[in-house]
Amino acid sequence: MRVRIARSAGFCFGVRRAMDKMEQLLKTEGPLYTLGPIIHNPQVVASLAERGAGLISRPEDAPEGATVVIRAHGVGREVMEILGSRGAKAEDATCPFVSRIHEMADQAASEGTPVIVIGDKQHPEVQGILGWTRGLGRAMETEADILPPLPERALVVAQTTIPPERFERMCVSLTDAGVQVEKRSTICPATSQRQAESVEIARESDVMLVIGGRNSSNTRKLYELCREVCERTYLIEHAGELKGIEITPQDDIGITAGASTPDGTFKEVVARMNDIEKQVEIQESDFMAEVEATLVQLRPGQTVTGTVVQITEDEVCVNVGYKADGLVKKTDLVNQDVNIGDEIEVEVVKVNDGEGNVLLSQRNIVNRKVWDAIIAAHEAGTFVKGIGKESVKGGLIANVEGIRAFIPASLLSLRYVEKIDEFVGQEMDLKIIEIDKSKKRVVASRKAVLQAEEDEKKKAAWTTLEEGTVVKGIVRRLTNFGAFVDIGGVDGLVHVTDLSWKRVGHPSEVVSVNQEIDVKILKLDQERDRISLSYKATQPKPWDIAGEKYVAGTIVTGKVVRIVPYGAFVELEPGLDGMVHISQCALTRIEKVEDAVKVGDEIRVKILSVDTEAKRISLSIREALTDETSIEADAADLAEESFDL
Ligand code: F3S
Repeated sequence: MRVRIARSAGFCFGVRRAMDKMEQLLKTEGPLYTLGPIIHNPQVVASLAERGAGLISRPEDAPEGATVVIRAHGVGREVMEILGSRGAKAEDATCPFVSRIHEMADQAASEGTPVIVIGDKQHPEVQGILGWTRGLGRAMETEADILPPLPERALVVAQTTIPPERFERMCVSLTDAGVQVEKRSTICPATSQRQAESVEIARESDVMLVIGGRNSSNTRKLYELCREVCERTYLIEHAGELKGIEITPQDDIGITAGASTPDGTFKEVVARMNDIEKQVEIQESDFMAEVEATLVQLRPGQTVTGTVVQITEDEVCVNVGYKADGLVKKTDLVNQDVNIGDEIEVEVVKVNDGEGNVLLSQRNIVNRKVWDAIIAAHEAGTFVKGIGKESVKGGLIANVEGIRAFIPASLLSLRYVEKIDEFVGQEMDLKIIEIDKSKKRVVASRKAVLQAEEDEKKKAAWTTLEEGTVVKGIVRRLTNFGAFVDIGGVDGLVHVTDLSWKRVGHPSEVVSVNQEIDVKILKLDQERDRISLSYKATQPKPWDIAGEKYVAGTIVTGKVVRIVPYGAFVELEPGLDGMVHISQCALTRIEKVEDAVKVGDEIRVKILSVDTEAKRISLSIREALTDETSIEADAADLAEESFDL
């Protein structure tokens, strides 16, 4: 024997809510009445009466001062007014989905728009909706009701329990009849879901038990649908009726219940099945296990997947397979774009919110997941993405997946940050460095990420570096002792003495910040993170080319840089000095070199000889003067001769 129980069996969300309200009021209020039977179940109504809940069928019958419960079907505005005028207190247990239709009807009517309700004309729910249409409402059951006079346009709503096809068909017929239809599908899927699930179970069962009141139209409909696919379908109102049903050990059994079947009746049937179970030699434990397995158990904090069964302005109703449906406040939804039939993951906040509903939240799950991810990232030292939100005293607040993280100003960058505002709106990778979930405190560092990136770059750069090679670099910083050059992720130092072949006072005499230069790697010391570079090594040595550049007999300009007793040293170019012997300093004999030149003078000198090996260049001021004077004289003579001619 296999037993399958429909998860959607029994009270729907609205009826359970009304029943729970009733139970509560029975404890606190009195005298208590219901306006019409609270559900279509005589046993339940009788039991409520025994416990002090009277039944009235008209609002005019409400005794003064009594509390009157409005059932899930809802009532019209007038009924509420009559109750008020009689001094009765109305406790409204109208299903929120029906209340929503009342609001729609009231709104449309207040704007002068007629309202058509598709449904069973005499049904209390339909009558209740019409009661909110300010006299502009009309109920229609079938096409036969589409009779003149018809409005030009109308808001068309549905009784919550009618088949969707009927509603669609009626809307089409109304349009064909010339009505401009503003259609609102207000059908509650609870009934169709229960029917579909029950039929599916009935199809696979040998015996199908439908529990519910025989005067309940939805239970009868359920019975008929199951009967179509399972010949041995039985409608029973209570456990006592199981006696007449023949069940064999080989039979698979399906159980469902109508919308007005209370849990008590349902459990009673299950308990009686134990007797049958003995009769068919089934172990009790097996059977109960089946039942238990079918009913979902919930606890706060549990994550469950459910199906959206109804959506109101502020809430979404979710079927999570529990005996009561769950409610998620729209503010607790992460994605507002949900539709009926969608499967969503939710967290149970409360199994009973005091009104019999399961309180659910989607945001809690996301928050929990985000916190878990942040904690995991903190423990693993991995990075998270954040967006700068606002600058505050001492740092920046970043949004990390909806969680506020504080970044101290000193941890925003590798260098000092002047304007924290510049980070607002900027996406950045962050490392979580401190976390306290209970205080909802997260401290993060962007600097740690940048540092790690630099370290990575450095590591990669070190593997490519080789002593003796020439690489390109960018001058980053100048100091008195040299220039720091970035050679692709790592900085090396060109000492001031390695900047040029000439003597350099300050590096700025040779290079400037951001200048791209070639440098030769002199020495690598990864342990101490030091790289020595040379810029001058990439420049030609002046003495190497001095022989080609300075030919004996030519006259060039130089600068006196040093005077010694036997002559003057003249710089021909940086790093290349020649010497003018005292005897070559003037046209006439002089006592001391200073009689002819002084340090700093720019003078013309003739190259006498160049010895690159010995790094010596002999120069002569006297010969330069003689040569240039005679050239000038020749030129003057030439000019005179031309004049004579
Ligand atoms: Fe029940 Fe309300 Fe739907 S009473 S059937 S949940 S509209």
